[in-house]
Amino acid sequence: MSKAVDASTVVLGIETSCDETAAAVVMGGGDVLSSVVASQLDEHARFGGVVPEIASRAHVEALPHVTAEALARANVDYARIDAVAATVGPGLVGALLVGVSAAKATALALDVPFVGVNHLEAHLYAALLDEPGAQFPMLFVLVSGGHTLFVQMTNPHSYSVIGQTIDDAAGEAFDKVARFLGLAYPGGPAIDQAARRGKDDAVVFPRAMLHDGLDVSFSGLKTSVINYVRANPSAATDDVAASFQRAVVDVIVHKARRAASEIGAKTIALGGGVAANSLLRHELAAAGSADGLAVVLPSREMCTDNAAMIASAAWYRLARGEASPLDAGANPNLKLGTGQR
Ligand code: KG4
Ligand code: ZN
Repeated sequence: MSKAVDASTVVLGIETSCDETAAAVVMGGGDVLSSVVASQLDEHARFGGVVPEIASRAHVEALPHVTAEALARANVDYARIDAVAATVGPGLVGALLVGVSAAKATALALDVPFVGVNHLEAHLYAALLDEPGAQFPMLFVLVSGGHTLFVQMTNPHSYSVIGQTIDDAAGEAFDKVARFLGLAYPGGPAIDQAARRGKDDAVVFPRAMLHDGLDVSFSGLKTSVINYVRANPSAATDDVAASFQRAVVDVIVHKARRAASEIGAKTIALGGGVAANSLLRHELAAAGSADGLAVVLPSREMCTDNAAMIASAAWYRLARGEASPLDAGANPNLKLGTGQR
């Protein structure tokens, strides 16, 4: 990039990794000038999950409008864009390619850098967008439909994964249990609602791996819920939902506290779709005040998939001189590794 990367650098971010088509304009890594998200939830709901072909087509249809809307709301034109970023993974390959192709074409036409962004890394920056003054070291708890990660962030450029699920992601467990209980899709919000009406001590479900390390496991819990309901068909769904949710939250909060203590964290930040869970937010906030830690509970817009976090993560990459080549592809299985420095 010929121009220096600074507080006036404007990045257009694009996110199409799953079922949200999003574009955003962010200045200086932290100033969100606009963030537009078009959800495809209705198009997938009747199938009970995201259908990859439908997602790709819907991204192709929505992206031009969503991008135009992001520029209009930010009140900038293409000439003001200093770099174009898109999620390169992880996600659905067809869906990712829509955003990557659009971003590369736009960057080429504008003669500005293209930045390929790791979607999981971007979730870390979402917390900083909401809470720019957050203190490091920070423990980031990323709980979504596809991932459950405990990430140590020493400063905005340096992070490493210190714990994760060995099987199902937290959101996946919510979705599978909700489906089994006959609740609505997506399952997380449905269980959250049902749990408010139920007793969370009605059934004592297992809390796997509670006392070893920083990894978690939710597959056994899911099986245990299924076995319990099969053996007790008249059990109240609300009680089962509340007891299941309590078990998931107990495990996440317990491991988060241990991880925070191990790394000497000053802050715990939450992100990903499951961060919308009301019990998890409440319990993590309570744990933070008991342990003397600041807790960042980002807004729903910043917890769920959006492009502002993509543009922000791209700014940090640009600041480290890490623009991507135009022949870079998408990687559906991209992992969250270790930050550059
Ligand atoms: O981060 P996200 O929007 O998409 C990805 O997985 O990338 O997360 C979606 C997940 C779903 O599994 C959904 O059931 C879960 O977040 N979720 C919740 C709640 N709202 C969404 N889980 C528990 N409680 C909620 N209130
Ligand atoms: Zn996500």
